[in-house]
Amino acid sequence: MTVKIYDTPEVQDFLKTVAGLDQAGGTERAKQIMHRLLSDLFKLIDDFDVTQEEYWSTVSLLNALGGQTQFGLLSPGLGFDHYLDMRQDAIDAEAKRNGGTPRTIEGPLYVAGAPEAEGFARMDDGQDRDGETMWLTGQVRDVNGNPVAGAKVEIWHANSKGGYSFFDKTQSEYNLRRTIHTDSEGRYTARSIIPSGYGVPEGAPTDQVLKALGRHGERPAHIHYFISAPGHCHLTTQINLAGDPYTFDDFAFATREELVIAATRIEDPAEIAKRELEGPFSEVVFDIELDKTEAPELQVRHKRPRAKEDAQDQASQLAGTAEV
Ligand SMILES: [Fe+2]
Repeated sequence: MTVKIYDTPEVQDFLKTVAGLDQAGGTERAKQIMHRLLSDLFKLIDDFDVTQEEYWSTVSLLNALGGQTQFGLLSPGLGFDHYLDMRQDAIDAEAKRNGGTPRTIEGPLYVAGAPEAEGFARMDDGQDRDGETMWLTGQVRDVNGNPVAGAKVEIWHANSKGGYSFFDKTQSEYNLRRTIHTDSEGRYTARSIIPSGYGVPEGAPTDQVLKALGRHGERPAHIHYFISAPGHCHLTTQINLAGDPYTFDDFAFATREELVIAATRIEDPAEIAKRELEGPFSEVVFDIELDKTEAPELQVRHKRPRAKEDAQDQASQLAGTAEV
C-alpha cells in the first residue's frame, strides 16, 4: 500500500520549519532554494515510495562521492554543466550577443598559474613517448574578422593515457598546461602531444551512478581553452578531436558540432623541418572568434573554486568589476 503524506498540513509546515522560513537569521535566497529543493525531494520520496534502504544507500553514495571529490565529475555526467551553458547561451541570445565561437563546459581539471608565453609554447615535457606530436595553432579574431593581438589563450589537456598533470602525480608540474598570448596577427601556436580520451574510474561512485542509468563514463579526446582579451567576452570552450569513438557520445555532454576538429597527419619533410620537429606530426587548427563587450564582468571567467586559483588571483581578475 502506498501512502501519500506530502500534501498534508503537517508536512507542509514541517518543510517551512526545516528551511528556516520562520527564523530571522540566515539568507532569504538560501531559505527559498532549500525549501524548494526539500519540497521536491520529499514529494519524490512520496511519489516513488522511496524505501529506507534506498534512501540510506543514497546517503552512503553521496558520502563516497564527496570523499573522493567526485561531485565535479558527476556534475557534467548528470548534465548540470551543459545545462548551465544552455542557460548562458539563452541569456546571451536575449542580450543580442550571438556571435563568436560557442562555449562549452570547463570541466573540473583546470589549474591556475600555468607558464606564460608569447605566440608559441611547447606544452609537453617530452616524457610521454606514446604521444603523437601535435602542432596546435589558430587565430583569435573578433566577430568582424579582425585579429585580436595579445589575447590570452589558456590551454590544458590530458596526456596519452588520459591523465592531467597536477591530478596525475606521475606528470611534471604544469605538463600540458600553458598560457599563450597571441602575436600581432592574433595567432597562437603550441607544440604538444595528441591527448587521449578518458573514462571515469571503474567502480568509482560516479561510475556507479552512470551504470545505474545504463550509461558509460567515457569522454573523447579533447583540448580545453579559456580565451580572453580586453573588450571581448571571455570564452570557456574545448575542442573534441574528430574520429574518436566518443566524439559524439561524450558522457560530459561537451561536444558541439562547431567544436569538432580534425587532426591532420603531416609527413612532408619540408613541413616537419619548418616547425623544427623530429618526425611526422598531427596538426590541429582551431581559430577562435570572440564577441565584443564593454561589460567588465563578461570579460573574465566566472568564479568557482579552481586548483591554485587563490583569492588574490580572483581579486585582481575582478578588480573594478561587479561581483559576478
Ligand atoms: Fe578534460
